[in-house]
Amino acid sequence: MAIQWFPGHMNKARKDVAERLKDIDVVIEMLDARLPASSANPMLARMAKGKPRLMILNKQDLADPAITQQWLDWYNAKKDTQAIGMDAGERAPAQRLVAACRQLAPNRGGLEKPLRVLICGIPNVGKSTLINSMSNRKIAKTGNMPGVTKNEQRIILADDVELFDTPGMLWPKIEVEEGGYNLAASGAVGRNAMDEEEVALELIKYLLIHYRAELAGRYKLDAEALDGVPDWQALELIGKRRGAVLSGGKINIQKAAEIVLTDFRDGQTGRITLERPEEWKVWEKRAKELAAIRAAEREARMQEKDGRKKQGGR
Ligand code: G4P
Repeated sequence: MAIQWFPGHMNKARKDVAERLKDIDVVIEMLDARLPASSANPMLARMAKGKPRLMILNKQDLADPAITQQWLDWYNAKKDTQAIGMDAGERAPAQRLVAACRQLAPNRGGLEKPLRVLICGIPNVGKSTLINSMSNRKIAKTGNMPGVTKNEQRIILADDVELFDTPGMLWPKIEVEEGGYNLAASGAVGRNAMDEEEVALELIKYLLIHYRAELAGRYKLDAEALDGVPDWQALELIGKRRGAVLSGGKINIQKAAEIVLTDFRDGQTGRITLERPEEWKVWEKRAKELAAIRAAEREARMQEKDGRKKQGGR
């Protein structure tokens, strides 16, 4: 599925982040706990290479707790990286953030060497909610602080800890196909940039494998009867159950798809995570292989074109 989610002004956001990164000690990336790897920005990973990183797996209230633990272990095993689970119900998020950042950059801190932290995350991941809950009235108004650009916010988390928030920076191409579907299912992608039926079918396909009981429970279907049922048929059953029926008795598939997506996003289907670390490794490997094949095909086409030109020129 091709998702158009990289608007033109992103190059400006990329430049702003690159500029800000120069004097940043710790990079916080907010991930969606239901799709940690799909919601991680590969461009940020490259730009922030070598900097300590804190991954916040946010919306953990919506994710499968056992799988969240798997992802926390996966990130915590990486060098210079810490991961914490979080959700909007957290009472004192700033305390946990500051403690983790201090551990990641033990040489910073104190008024002489304030700890500077950057926070990034895809749209809808819950960044504003977190920042609002931490900031009270301590947000530096944009543009009125030396060294803080117009688009940035600076939040004072402690006397010697500053958090910078720059406008969202997306990445140009979603390489892992499953990652694209998961981003779309989570609500991170605008409605116009995706085909809801296709996204709902991919979601159902995954739920039938890992969360069949939850799916059946939500739509009062028989879990055993769903065994071996293809995604499209399950979508029809859901549509029928929910009264998404057109005149003549045909199932309104678009409506059924919207129901499935909305229920998943609101956590009505249950606590669900759309990817496991082991799965992600396989998807990523396949995506790299596919990209290599496509690059080789492109190269072959170019050579053929060149050859034809040369022949024509003789
Ligand atoms: P953003 O700045 O990263 O774009 O995201 P924002 O904070 O605006 O949050 C996006 C949506 O996610 C909001 O819901 C917000 O309430 C919800 N949200 C944020 N953090 C959490 C969390 O930890 N758990 C859950 N379950 N939801 C969270 P909304 O429906 O768009 O708006 P609202 O009416 O709920 O405010």
